[in-house]
Amino acid sequence: MVCLGNICRSPLAEGILKSKLPSDLFKVDSAGTANYHVGNSPDKRSVAVARKYGLDISNLKGRQFKTSDFDLFDLIYVMDDSNFNNVISLARNDEDIAKVKFILNEIYPNQNYDVPDPYYGGDEGFENVYKMLDEACGVIAETLT
Ligand code: 4NP
Repeated sequence: MVCLGNICRSPLAEGILKSKLPSDLFKVDSAGTANYHVGNSPDKRSVAVARKYGLDISNLKGRQFKTSDFDLFDLIYVMDDSNFNNVISLARNDEDIAKVKFILNEIYPNQNYDVPDPYYGGDEGFENVYKMLDEACGVIAETLT
């Protein structure tokens, strides 16, 4: 799960997808394309909305997406167009590129819609993001299990 800062959207996506998949069979992680928040906890508002729905993401720590992630993961879900371009710019070949998907395409195939960045907005933005990610991760989990 990849976003820009790895403190708002992708830690939520990580927590949600982990909760829907058996942990002995799937490795779920998140990263940011930027390095601003490496080592930081998720944004308080992401922690709060996750807690509201029964998930604890407070122990996650920000990290930056790196080329070796293409070797460690079969699927790389991005939140928006800018994340897509940043991740693709690190791809080494067509196999890497084929792993990169817009997460909302799970609900709206081929539309390449963005999960809106809630960082500069209010709590309702985080609620909205949670609902979108929960629906998309539900489809991902159903497809993979
Ligand atoms: P995220 O949100 O990409 O969903 O983690 C952001 C977090 C921090 C910043 C931008 C977006 N920032 O500019 O610091």
